[in-house]
Amino acid sequence: MTEAILLVGGKGTRLRPLTVNTPKPMVPAAGVPFLTHQLARAKAAGVEHIVLATSYLAEVFEPHFGDGSDLGLSLEYVTEEEPLGTGGAIRNVASRLHSGPDEPVLIFNGDILTGLDIRALVATHADSGADVSLHLTRVDDPRAFGLVPTDDTGRVTAFLEKPQTPEEIVTDQINAGAYVFRRSVIDTIPAGRPVSVERETFPELLASGAHLQGMVDSTYWLDLGTPQAFVRGSADLVLGRAPSPAVPGRCGDRLVLPTARVAPDAKITGGTVVGAHATVGEGARVTGSTLLAGAVVEPGAVVTDSLIGAGARIGARSVLTGAVIGDGAHVGPDNELRDGIRIWCDATLPAGTVRFSSDQ
Ligand code: GDD
Ligand code: MG
Repeated sequence: MTEAILLVGGKGTRLRPLTVNTPKPMVPAAGVPFLTHQLARAKAAGVEHIVLATSYLAEVFEPHFGDGSDLGLSLEYVTEEEPLGTGGAIRNVASRLHSGPDEPVLIFNGDILTGLDIRALVATHADSGADVSLHLTRVDDPRAFGLVPTDDTGRVTAFLEKPQTPEEIVTDQINAGAYVFRRSVIDTIPAGRPVSVERETFPELLASGAHLQGMVDSTYWLDLGTPQAFVRGSADLVLGRAPSPAVPGRCGDRLVLPTARVAPDAKITGGTVVGAHATVGEGARVTGSTLLAGAVVEPGAVVTDSLIGAGARIGARSVLTGAVIGDGAHVGPDNELRDGIRIWCDATLPAGTVRFSSDQ
């Protein structure tokens, strides 16, 4: 087993409103573009050749990762003119694969942070003789995912993408976005048109009697689909809860990049990342948050579970909890911002404009 396809295209890849020009896989998590963690984990599991299937803003990947040799990988890039969907993207890169018809090819959704034992998934695939093997995880609310019920041998019995009705919620097992395909199965996906692997390929394979095998585990798993999830994932990487060989430096309570400046009495905890050239002023407290490059937290500000975009500024004594501040935005002093608020890129919030507490 040596190759993988990484799906990093589609329409939903922008981490709004944080990034005007950066697709989500390139937003830093624990100090490096998120995609680095997936690439490094695949490499650590013995993968040598990875094809990035891209569509939207594809041109940012290659200048950063090049031929992959820095990561010990051989990387190729294939750009779709129009997004081809997950299945179409897989089919579109088939000509770049080196594997023989019966050999396994790994496929990963590009927005997942996970502790998946990749070798174990490949071993499950080989042992079961399946056509496709899927990593499954259990979640409290499966509605935003693909539901994958299995029988008592782990064989997949149905695939229900984004169930709409309560009757369709037949299991808490969901598609965790990592598959092993027998190479020849990839070649059966129709070429040259959009195909959803979840809505079309998997149901059709099941209907035709193909063997889809599930591997359920309880390892770390997080879909980074929202900025809040992204902040959580970045903190978990720093804290060592989400394993990645690409975290720069040792895991611990914080990651302060070498060019960042943190006042001696500022308190940085909970897996916070202080990005390149970012600044944290005197007496500020930052917990479980991500400060992207060049962000500024002024003295006395308190920032918790929040994402502070590149070059954004948080004014003195402002208190942020669960906030997402776009690149270049300016939150003036003495504001109080709470869960779910998003300040758009380059917006300015004057001093003392938003509060939840009393007038005092
Ligand atoms: N190249 C390419 N082209 N990639 C695509 C395209 C496309 O047209 N469409 C989506 N992708 C990539 C996305 O970048 C992402 O990495 C992955 O395919 C999955 O697409 P999402 O749009 O993030 O899907 P989702 O999160 O709603 O659902 C998927 O992931 C869930 C787990 O997080 C499905 O696979 C679900 O079944 C699954 O449970
Ligand atoms: Mg997703």
